[in-house]
Amino acid sequence: MTLEEQLENLEEETMEKISNTSDLDSLNNIRVKTLGKKGPITEVLRGMKDLAPEDRPKVGSFANQVRNHLTQQIEKKRAKLEEEALNQALAEESIDVTLPGKQIPQGTRHILTKIVEEIEDIFVGMGYQIIEGPEVEQDHYNFERMNIPKNHPARDMQDTFYISDELLIRTHTSPVQARTMEKHDFSKGPLRMISPGKVFRRDTDDATHSHQFHQIEGLVVDKHITMGDLKGTLEELMKKMFGEDREVRLRPSYFPFTEPSVEADVSCFKCGGKGCSVCKHSGWIEILGSGMVHPDVLEMSGIDPKEYSGFAFGLGPDRIAMLRYGVEDIRSFYLNDTRFIDQFKGE
Ligand code: PHE
Repeated sequence: MTLEEQLENLEEETMEKISNTSDLDSLNNIRVKTLGKKGPITEVLRGMKDLAPEDRPKVGSFANQVRNHLTQQIEKKRAKLEEEALNQALAEESIDVTLPGKQIPQGTRHILTKIVEEIEDIFVGMGYQIIEGPEVEQDHYNFERMNIPKNHPARDMQDTFYISDELLIRTHTSPVQARTMEKHDFSKGPLRMISPGKVFRRDTDDATHSHQFHQIEGLVVDKHITMGDLKGTLEELMKKMFGEDREVRLRPSYFPFTEPSVEADVSCFKCGGKGCSVCKHSGWIEILGSGMVHPDVLEMSGIDPKEYSGFAFGLGPDRIAMLRYGVEDIRSFYLNDTRFIDQFKGE
């Protein structure tokens, strides 16, 4: 076989290899093996010394031609393979904009927190301070200072969890009344405060009872505070919460720390007072307990009841949420089921 024939065969074989290869690595191998220093073309060129001098230029230029052609073909194939690789990578990365987006779960404040904040805003607008008290409370503030001495039968209404004889988790937010009154400096103005928070009672849980629930205590003490102030304040609150047409009705009741004591009803926001299932067909909804601060409670906190008077109330955000949103079971608020909680996201 002449050198030219060898080169022709080599070109043909290599062209076939190039066209059969489908990855960049083996293409590179072909390049090194065929065109490299130890490759067959170099070999052929080395054999030229045995040729007659007049044949050398012809064979030499043919060998160069073959080398250039193969180099070109390899480059062409490399470009093609690189483009394919890029296209494949792009195809794998491609985004289907019609797929539903990834849901990023978003938290929301609990509906009870929202109600408490709504009520706080209303009272801050009327010049009240917001004061928090401890959940672990002394018997002294929870009961004694609220005019409920040891062995008083009224203690039965608020049976609780004792930590020791003197320490308990509070049954109501009323102890914050005593804590605030004993510190208040009346030379700086009247006392107006609300105190939201958790309270605890040894109740058996059912649809309308929970051993843990919320209260918002309200207290105003100044000279010449009357039940008219109490009623006006409650009316303002109910109109803001349940609509301008709401009316408030006071009914006699009993609490050891208020005298007189009243239960406040609001005209039904659902039926306007005609009677429906929300107001149990009475037209009125019982909404909170309140009254004029008992003179003994003022006195125990170092306030002279002959000079000062006040009103207090305690309302339940849980109950307000149940009424407003038709929640039938108070326990739903405390189960942490996000399907329940998420319903109030927009509130
Ligand atoms: N503390 C009372 C209760 O928990 C509610 C209340 C507060 C009543 C303030 C009158 C005045 O039942």
